[in-house]
Amino acid sequence: MAHLIEQQGPISLATYMELALAHPKLGYYTTRDPLGAGGDFTTSPEISQMFGELLGLWCVDMWEKLGRPDPFVFAEIGPGRGTLMADALRAASLVPEFTRAAQVALVEISPILRTEQLKNVPSATWYTSLADLPNGPILLLANEFFDALPIRQFQRTDRGWCERCITLQRGDPDAPPSFQFGLKPDPLAVHFLPSSVANAPEGAIVETSPATDSVVTTLAERLHTQGGAALIIDYGHAHSAAGDTLQAMKNHAFADPLAEPGHADITAHVDFENLQTKAVGASAYGPVEQGAFLERLGISARAENLKQRATPDQAEEIETALHRLTGRTAMGRLFKVMSLTGPGTPAPAGFE
Ligand SMILES: C[S@@+](CC[C@H](N)C(=O)[O-])C[C@H]1O[C@@H](n2cnc3c(N)ncnc32)[C@H](O)[C@@H]1O
Repeated sequence: MAHLIEQQGPISLATYMELALAHPKLGYYTTRDPLGAGGDFTTSPEISQMFGELLGLWCVDMWEKLGRPDPFVFAEIGPGRGTLMADALRAASLVPEFTRAAQVALVEISPILRTEQLKNVPSATWYTSLADLPNGPILLLANEFFDALPIRQFQRTDRGWCERCITLQRGDPDAPPSFQFGLKPDPLAVHFLPSSVANAPEGAIVETSPATDSVVTTLAERLHTQGGAALIIDYGHAHSAAGDTLQAMKNHAFADPLAEPGHADITAHVDFENLQTKAVGASAYGPVEQGAFLERLGISARAENLKQRATPDQAEEIETALHRLTGRTAMGRLFKVMSLTGPGTPAPAGFE
């Protein structure tokens, strides 16, 4: 990366994130399993089986609403260890016709995580991008996928809008250079920033994600022409707003996003209003808060049910997991859920 900047000059934050996260040999996701206690962060499916089970039953309900298509593509994008899909398939096996009709498809760029996914979802077929998936009606899950996509950042200055870029800082001539933010004037930015933030005050930072826009546009076009539904869960904001949400996680603690590219998870909050705007041709539901969504799907009843067969220690773990997933100061409020469906599809569960 430093070599690239030396040769070409400052790079955009999006290029920095793309290389740091997804470089085939040096990228964060392509070189490790980052999940769980021994990794850098934990996600909802890794906290409790209840999460994947409820999403699996949401998919069965949606499949019924779509008229029981057979076959259909049952896809997950950014599946981590495959835990969510494994739990969803186990719960969905209550309706064997669903499982028989499902062509399980996982979209994943990481060879290491594909190996983990194979252990948990042996019936899957793997793809590198959404555009490669087989044709047909689709049910798609995406948990903490969009936050991992590269963003661009723009800052309003006394010179007008500038793009925040990554440059090199040289201190000790014997030490490798470090990365730092710089600003590059971009007078055209005002034309593609969300109109609600284009008049933000001096100093404000506004984020866009061309990679997110491309995935959502492809997904919505597919839902429009081939039918189906998607469920997107992530941390983020319901309305487009100015703010710097770039963050890095290492060993379950916040880290400097520029300190160790390739060795920390670098993410940004998802702008759900932008997802809806870019989902041309699809119907959008939500976002609703994860806590409310899971409650509507019956997570408390499922927790009670699991506790009846649990030891006291296990029952305490189930209660803790329930709180982490739904509590307003835990994941229940920051995490949001949005559904996109094809035209004419009945409203999905959990958004009323
Ligand atoms: C934060 S993890 C979430 C994992 C999983 N969904 C969960 O909830 O445990 C992000 C996942 O997206 C994958 N990923 C990142 N960028 C991707 C891309 N451009 N295309 C497909 N998968 C990607 C990562 O390898 C990883 O599996």
